[in-house]
Amino acid sequence: MSLAVPLAYALFSSAPALAAYNLAQEYSGSKFFDGWDWQDHVYDDTTHGHVFYLSEDKAMAKPNPIAYLNDAGNAIIKIDNTTSVDYNNKRNSVRIATHDYFPVGSLFVFDAVHLPYGCAVWPGFWTKGPNWPQDGEIDIMEQVNLAPANQMTLHTEAGCTQASGVQQLGKTVGTDCSAGVNSATGCSVAEAQANSFGAGFAENGGGVWATQFDATGVFIWFWSRKDVPASVSSATNSIDPSTFGTPSAAWPASSCDVGQFFNPQQLVLDITLCGDWAGQPNLYQSSCGGELGNTTVDMCYLYDVINLNQTALANAWFEISYIKVFTQNNASIEVPVSTSGSSVVLSAAANTGAASGTGSGAPTASSTSTSSGNGTSSNTGSGGNGALPSASAYVAALGAAVLAVSSWALL
Ligand SMILES: *[C@@H]1O[C@H](CO)[C@@H](O)[C@H](O)[C@H]1NC(C)=O
Ligand SMILES: *[C@@H]1O[C@H](CO)[C@@H](O)[C@H](O)[C@H]1NC(C)=O
Ligand SMILES: *[C@@H]1O[C@H](CO)[C@@H](O)[C@H](O)[C@H]1NC(C)=O
Ligand SMILES: *[C@@H]1O[C@H](CO)[C@@H](O)[C@H](O)[C@H]1NC(C)=O
Ligand SMILES: *[C@@H]1O[C@H](CO)[C@@H](O)[C@H](O)[C@H]1NC(C)=O
Repeated sequence: MSLAVPLAYALFSSAPALAAYNLAQEYSGSKFFDGWDWQDHVYDDTTHGHVFYLSEDKAMAKPNPIAYLNDAGNAIIKIDNTTSVDYNNKRNSVRIATHDYFPVGSLFVFDAVHLPYGCAVWPGFWTKGPNWPQDGEIDIMEQVNLAPANQMTLHTEAGCTQASGVQQLGKTVGTDCSAGVNSATGCSVAEAQANSFGAGFAENGGGVWATQFDATGVFIWFWSRKDVPASVSSATNSIDPSTFGTPSAAWPASSCDVGQFFNPQQLVLDITLCGDWAGQPNLYQSSCGGELGNTTVDMCYLYDVINLNQTALANAWFEISYIKVFTQNNASIEVPVSTSGSSVVLSAAANTGAASGTGSGAPTASSTSTSSGNGTSSNTGSGGNGALPSASAYVAALGAAVLAVSSWALL
């Protein structure tokens, strides 16, 4: 029994801080789409997916909008599945990020009825600062293809790891959060609860994630619809995570100083297709079948992105009931003072000290670029201003469409 006390202390010290948070921002109903920056007219040049992100006006244009409110008043964000896309072109999608940046000491609640899934489909609900990876990234909901359960991940600079023996329901996949190691896979936790992604999520009426972004650590909870506690579903002006129980994923500050590795975060929603994760040939084939692709022939693109075979994309849509942000001690939300060019200057935060920086994050597997106020991308790549790749970017051989390796940059 002599070991029991130190062990209990060790476990308790990795538990989330107990504190009440007050509502600071809400995205729901007719106001859901207020307050987001749209990745306007850019290719997915960071995770190399085969999508083209539309401006707000274009995404909402009738008769086939890809961002709108449905009859239930929920926000729909989807992959275009009504257009025939020619070989070497991309499919329309959406990537939006909140205009506001939320400081350490925030709690994000994400309530979805349906998540995008299917072969080729790679959705995310995640957070990031203006610079990657210096300002940190929290992937709250991110998965690909037909995977049955969600995965949660932090990406940071070197020095942030997940402590061993943390109290969490999920299974640790990697402990080093550094973007510089293991192909930038970050420190991931696989959700152990069924129905946290894909068809199972939808069939159970969706679910809710709560993410505590706190000086004591980063903690993510997930509840399938029937399990969502009243303390979450009825939280209006404030929320208290002390009754949430064991989180799905926990990165206590004991081995990752949140104040050091994270700056204020904006929330991001996006759907891409194929690319570095969903389209990875072995992973794609193991989930979706078909021929095994390689670096020259992208079966994911050929099967699911081009032409009018949208079977795989029939479920490539978010239906979101609301996103709420609560802050501790009413910490101030930061808003960019200037978004001209590639720089994003943040105003001083009441509780976290001033943060500032430029917004041109390096394009890497799990980051995104920030876009300037007039719609040009700060990480342009060759397609950043919407120019279509030239015909010389591909070759056709053996009667089948074959992508040249060099065309990846152009696509
Ligand atoms: C890539 O896959 C295609 C289709 O299966 C095949 O024809 C081609 O030879 C492969 N190329 C390489 C370099 O393996
Ligand atoms: C359409 O895509 C689905 C899913 O990838 C695949 O099973 C099916 O064979 C495709 N149909 C055609 C006509 O290509
Ligand atoms: C396209 O997506 C919508 C959902 O946005 C779905 O209801 C519809 O069945 C899809 N169409 C096809 C042809 O897959
Ligand atoms: C935060 O704001 C709420 C609502 O305005 C108020 O009731 C509460 O006292 C404030 N809390 C702190 C710590 O300032
Ligand atoms: C958009 O902003 C960029 C960067 O500030 C600038 O170079 C470009 O001329 C602007 N384009 C328009 C159409 O205003």
